Parts: sequence; structure tokens; C-alpha cells
Amino acid sequence: MRIDILTLFPEFFASPLKQSILRRAQEQGAVSFRVIDLRDFTTDRHRTADDRPYGGGPGMVMKLEPLVAAIRAVRAEDEAVRVILLTPAGGLLTQKKVQDLAGRGHLLLICGHYEGVDDRLSHYVDEELSIGDYVLTGGEPAALVVADAVVRLLPAVLGCEGSAAEDSFQTGLLDHPHYTRPRVFEGHAVPEVLLSGDHAAVARWRRQEAIKRTLRRRPELLSRAALSPADREFLARLTEISEQQDG
Ligand code: ADE
Repeated sequence: MRIDILTLFPEFFASPLKQSILRRAQEQGAVSFRVIDLRDFTTDRHRTADDRPYGGGPGMVMKLEPLVAAIRAVRAEDEAVRVILLTPAGGLLTQKKVQDLAGRGHLLLICGHYEGVDDRLSHYVDEELSIGDYVLTGGEPAALVVADAVVRLLPAVLGCEGSAAEDSFQTGLLDHPHYTRPRVFEGHAVPEVLLSGDHAAVARWRRQEAIKRTLRRRPELLSRAALSPADREFLARLTEISEQQDG
């Protein structure tokens, strides 16, 4: 897979793309990144990428011409590229969307800045994505989030370090808790069942802990999670217990 990132701040990506799994994925040949400096597509002496907003108001707006020139240059290399603008006004990034993006061969992630991007850019991009309901200073951290979430789903990238198939959200539930040594830390013990060697009991416990956590922290996820009859029975018991405690 190829991931191109179009930004006014190319240096932002220098270190993150060289670390950990993103670095390994590039070494393995699973992904190649290219960070494109938007100013290379400006045409004036001052390399201007922004301008004052029509209608007045604070801040600056990113100009269309360099953005569209950069998009056209990438599309000329590969017309199948998926062009994505990162903006808090976009549709919300979900694990489902990440899976969709991981199945594409080539992404161009565009980082917005200042007060925003001239809205007519919507005619030139395939979609607009937000990573959450909060506002960042620019699209760079959001592009990094998208790239990170996509790359870990590429075949062979996670290897023995974990199975993406068991992730939170992939199953529709939050992940179960994890523990490693020591067995007791400052009085906090690891749950006994994990030391039992009984694989079926461990699997059941993990599933139930995932359900408990989801109910406590993100109950709205439960209505869409794929639950077995045993899961539903467990959930019904949990809800009953919590109602008894409340009442
Ligand atoms: N740029 C600023 N805030 C953002 C957000 N929440 N998601 C994507 N891009 C952004």
C-alpha cells in the first residue's frame, strides 16, 4: 500500500514514521509513505498557501490552487488514489472505515490548517474525515492516526504481536483486560483464572470482562455488537444485578 500525506508541515511526520510498527511495516514492504510539502505547489515568490476569508472574520483559509495542483499531480500518477481531507467537519473515523481504507491500494491524506480549507476543495476530494469530536490545531495528528490505524491492519504487519481480528471494535466490544508479571503488584493481584491453565475458562472470562467493560464505559456499543446467546444471557444477568444495586 502507498500512503501519501499532503501537508504544510512535512517535518511533523519525520519521527513518527520512523518508529515501531510504522517503521517495520515500511521495512517489510507492506506500506510506503511519501510526505508532500504543499508549498512545493505554490507559484508565488512567498510560497503562499493561505489567504483571508471572504465575508471577514478571524484566521486564514487554505487556498485552493496549491491543494488542487498537488491532488492533480498525485492523480496523474495513479488515478485510483483515494483522496481524503482531514477536517473536524468530516464524517467520523470508525474501525469499519479504517478497514475500508486498508483495502485500498493508495491513499492521499490532506492535512487542513488555520481556520479551515476553502470549501470548494470538496469537489476535488473523495471524502472528508474527522478523527473525533474535538478540534486539533491541524490535520497532521489526524492523518497520523488514520495512517497508524490503517497500517496495522495490513497483512503481516502485526505478526505475532497481536491479532487485529481480536481488537476492540473489530468485535464490536471494548477489549478485555490484559496482565503480565508480577502476579501481585502493591496488593493488586492478577485474576486467578488467568493462572489456571484452563483455556476455555480463560476465554469465557475474557469475553465476559469485555462485555462488562463495554456495558460500563460504552453501553451504546452493545446494541451493534455480535453477541452469542451465552453473551446475551450474561449481559441480562449483569443488567439485572446493576438494577438491583440501583434500586
Ligand atoms: N483537524 C482539526 N481537527 C480535526 C479532527 N478532529 N479530525 C480531523 N482533522 C482535524
